[in-house]
Amino acid sequence: MTDPQWARVAELAEFGRRGKKLVTVGSERIALFAHGGEVFAFQDACVHKDRPLSRGTLLNGRVVCPGHQWAFDLRTGQAEDRAECQPTYPVRVEDGQVWVLVRQPAASASASSASAAPSALPAADLVQE
Ligand code: FES
Repeated sequence: MTDPQWARVAELAEFGRRGKKLVTVGSERIALFAHGGEVFAFQDACVHKDRPLSRGTLLNGRVVCPGHQWAFDLRTGQAEDRAECQPTYPVRVEDGQVWVLVRQPAASASASSASAAPSALPAADLVQE
């Protein structure tokens, strides 16, 4: 494993009315959700049975999985009334650009470790819904 690095994955202006977007960084599929002026990033595959959270619904500060309607807290990934927790990624928004802190496969990782400034990785491959 390599050190995590910041990747620019989207622009705030790209989020549609539903407030969600699927991106990939390396081999990682990341579901982004914009809510209340903030952006949150989840592993796309649901911790329950791998359904894509990017096809879920934003509702009252939670993401509702399309698979079996488990609801995950946007800030923590904690499933409501369950012990499971959906993996999340740190997010920062700067000048309308959305950055996510991800681990990269060793083959594509930079030789340097992550820095405080989000400049280590190129823009992610964006997948539109
Ligand atoms: S796959 Fe997400 S709740 Fe079952």
